[in-house]
Formats: sequence, C-alpha cells, structure tokens
Amino acid sequence: MVIAVYPGSFDPATYGHLDIIQRASVSFDQVIVGVLHNSAKSPLFSVEERVNILEKATKDIPNVKIKPFDGLSVNFARENRAQVIVRGLRAVTDFEYELQMAQTNRVLAPDVDTVFLTTSLEYAYLSSTIMKEVARYRGDLSKFAPPEIVEAVRAKLY
Ligand code: PNS
Repeated sequence: MVIAVYPGSFDPATYGHLDIIQRASVSFDQVIVGVLHNSAKSPLFSVEERVNILEKATKDIPNVKIKPFDGLSVNFARENRAQVIVRGLRAVTDFEYELQMAQTNRVLAPDVDTVFLTTSLEYAYLSSTIMKEVARYRGDLSKFAPPEIVEAVRAKLY
C-alpha cells in the first residue's frame, strides 16, 4: 500500500490543485492532502475553511483525505505513514524552489521520496495568488476553480 501526502497552502484550491489530486489518486493507494497552517503567510482562508473547501471538492474521490498540518512536511508524511510527497510542477520557474525543497526533505527524511506531477497544460499559468488577484478586481474566476470555490472567494472578498 503506497500512501502519498500532497502538502500545500491551498488558499484556496484551484483547478490546478484538483487536477494534481485527481491524478495522484490514480497512482497511489491513498492520497492525504496536507493543508499548511501557515500564519506567516496571512492566508485569505483559515485552515478550517481551506480543509472544508477541499473536502467538498474531492468528495467523489474515495482514496483522498484532507488534513490540516503544522510544521515540516516530512513529519506530516511520517505521521501518516506516507512513503511519498507529491508536488505539482507548472514551469521551470517552480523548479528551483521545488528541487531545493525536495532535496532538503530528502536530507531530513531519506525514507520519503518526492514525486513531481507536471501540471496539465491548461492550468500551467494558474495559482491561488493569481486567482485572488483577479478576484480582487472582480474578474471572471470560472476558469480557475469550481463554482463552490469561486463562491467562497467572492463571499470572502466582496
Ligand atoms: O502551496 P505551497 O505554498 O507552494 O506549499 C508549500 C509547502 C507547504 C509544501 C512548503 O512550504 C512546506 O512544506 N512547508 C512546511 C515546512 C517544510 O517542511 N518546509 C520544507 C523544508 S525546508
């Protein structure tokens, strides 16, 4: 049984994140999405709200669980008996930071491997930050996330 964790901020989740979760759920027996409780980043949504949003968006994928976490991703992986950390790679601009993080995680926990999934082309430009930027100017969010998430962003900002 191969368990993967997919850590991130998910503030909030986009179609890009949901695409990675869906594809990871095919390759791994269980996928545990870890929502980082990162007070330093002052997120738009509380950790409970981000977990809630992801639970609703992934309710039809039986081998996916959503959990909040604090601290190191490798500790979250170990606590959940995961052998793999999944991350999405959109473009070369992601690569340097992701490589450094994967290498650091490997030093901290040689028993946990990082697996990168390349983001589907249609979402390669997309991030939570971009979605929030468009939302602040009341732009159309329908290409960025499912209607429930768009609604949650609007309710928060407008
Ligand atoms: O969605 P994000 O913000 O790109 O996710 C980044 C995340 C949460 C994966 C990363 O910041 C992280 O793993 N944070 C927890 C602390 C940690 O383990 N850092 C990596 C080793 S330095």
